Amino acid sequence: MRLENSNLKPELTSLEKVINGLAVDRVPIWLMRQAGRYLEEYRKVRSTTNSFLEFCYNPEKASEVTLQPIKRFDFDASIIFSDILVIPDALGVDVSFQVGEGPVLKKITPEYLDKLTYNEKTLYPVYEAMKIVRDKLSPEKTLIGFTGSPWTLATYMIEGGGSKDFINTKNWSYADPESFRKLIYILADSISKHAIAQIEAGANIIQLFDSWAGVVASGDEFNKWVIEPTKYIVSKIKSKYPNILITGFPRGAGVSYLDYANKTGVDAISVDYNMPIEWIAKNVDIAIQGNLDPVLLKNNKEQALLQAGKILDTMKGRKFIFNLGHGILPETPIENVYALVESVRKFK
Ligand code: CP3
Repeated sequence: MRLENSNLKPELTSLEKVINGLAVDRVPIWLMRQAGRYLEEYRKVRSTTNSFLEFCYNPEKASEVTLQPIKRFDFDASIIFSDILVIPDALGVDVSFQVGEGPVLKKITPEYLDKLTYNEKTLYPVYEAMKIVRDKLSPEKTLIGFTGSPWTLATYMIEGGGSKDFINTKNWSYADPESFRKLIYILADSISKHAIAQIEAGANIIQLFDSWAGVVASGDEFNKWVIEPTKYIVSKIKSKYPNILITGFPRGAGVSYLDYANKTGVDAISVDYNMPIEWIAKNVDIAIQGNLDPVLLKNNKEQALLQAGKILDTMKGRKFIFNLGHGILPETPIENVYALVESVRKFK
């Protein structure tokens, strides 16, 4: 691969090398949601704390489960164990996780906006956990910090949790774009602060999860609520830390992946399993992570390995990091993950 940037600090991790276009001797791999319920050692530590947020805010436990998948699979990157919903929590919105139901939040309305104040202290335990992880992680491994993106966080705050149609969020954005914009930029400012604090705690890369980007109408709306706020966050982070790499995951964005890759300033994109990887290879120039279907990995080891091989062939010689197209499912057999890692490692 070509050398594109000669001003880099020498001790780059493999993901940083790939994203910067530097040579690596193998394709790096990590998996979204790699610390989680498919691991028995995760379930064991998780069972010691009832509340999920309390668990996230326990630096010893959060750092321990962050490192579990690295110990087991020798992944090239660890992603800090936390959640995207810590931002609404830090803004004073009630957040809880009910077993089997997913997250529940106190619904916000335009009248509520003035009450949102970002309390950074809420997130100190996340930074503590990151410092512990960076200390224990070998230097060639990447530590990924992350946050939700404004649109996705807004959906959880307005719908009061997950949703099928996101009708309240979309209604608000069309009916009162001014106050909606205010919410999006309150979030963008909090997100930028959270990302910067994670960098200061040792993160090499920041991943922005826009898990519900696919709900936004294309064109103006996508530009207003996905592209522009992301660009704003990227420029805030990079004005302080110009060499920090930022990866973005506008899940479900379809052909708008192109605008996202070209206009937001992110250094890499995570590609969902809906996108044909050939189309991505042909049209996107920046580094790519993805895009194996997690349901296939759970269901059928042989077919998952075949599909992984096709992805690797298509991305050969490109700036590519192997990953799934969305988070690993709790029911995934461990042996399928071992087989996947082995086959990515063997690929030349
Ligand atoms: O290993 C990692 O990737 C780091 C940990 C991580 C979690 N959540 C832990 C978690 C990360 C990166 C996230 C991001 C996240 N959280 C997203 C964006 C990625 C995506 O999947 O699109 C979203 C939308 C959330 C919100 C969220 N958190 C939901 C909808 C749920 C409940 C659904 C479920 O799977 O139960 C959570 C809870 C959650 N976050 C769990 C984990 C391991 C499961 C709860 C538990 O273990 O008790």
